[in-house]
Amino acid sequence: MSADSNRPKPPADARQTAPEFASRDPDSPAFWDERFERGFMPWDQAGVPPAFKAFAARHTEGAVLIPGCGSAWEALALAQAGRQVRAIDFSPNAVVTARERLGAYAPVVEQADFFAYEPPFAPAWIYERAFLCALPKARWGDYAQRMAALLPAGALLAGFYFLGATPKGPPFGIERGELDALLAPHFELIEDEAVADSIPIFAGRERWMTWRRRGVAAA
Ligand SMILES: C[S@@+](CC[C@H](N)C(=O)[O-])C[C@H]1O[C@@H](n2cnc3c(N)ncnc32)[C@H](O)[C@@H]1O
Repeated sequence: MSADSNRPKPPADARQTAPEFASRDPDSPAFWDERFERGFMPWDQAGVPPAFKAFAARHTEGAVLIPGCGSAWEALALAQAGRQVRAIDFSPNAVVTARERLGAYAPVVEQADFFAYEPPFAPAWIYERAFLCALPKARWGDYAQRMAALLPAGALLAGFYFLGATPKGPPFGIERGELDALLAPHFELIEDEAVADSIPIFAGRERWMTWRRRGVAAA
């Protein structure tokens, strides 16, 4: 076996032709299962994004929830740093992939549907990457409601948002005004930065955003 064969496989390129899949409904675990099983994961960064690293270094207290975690690279980084973290995904194959990656830290990964999941803690922050854009538009209102229900006043929803409408998806891009209308009733936008190092599928259309849950934090 050559040294090269031991290296992790790079993510599939965005320009790679999508194979034929049986499942067409991204609101179902079967859709994602099929893609993980066949290794078609053009969204997978195969590592931890620098903006995430920088944010985690600034926010070192409290528990973190990662919904739609996929391969869960960020959960591994947080667990290795001794942080309290739960990473969830409703696709059994995603969970298998994530648990293999996490090794000794595998128990932080749970198979669960974000819309029904009750974390074992009140998160200090929830990390968003390629989760909202994985959801069909019909679920975006539910996303905002559930994020608002999970985060106490003052807690943060932070991560990458894929902007600009797309004719089809996933990824389902969201117009900037629509994102603001979705989240602003519950959250105040406190960070909003361009992302220069996106992987091809998201290039030029991602922003790092941090939204703070409105309301008065408990003393
Ligand atoms: C595009 S992938 C992104 C994975 C990961 N966040 C990343 O950045 O590599 C979207 C993930 O969200 C998961 N997902 C979609 N809807 C979900 C839901 N309702 N509850 C939990 N996970 C969900 C899918 O199974 C898939 O693994």
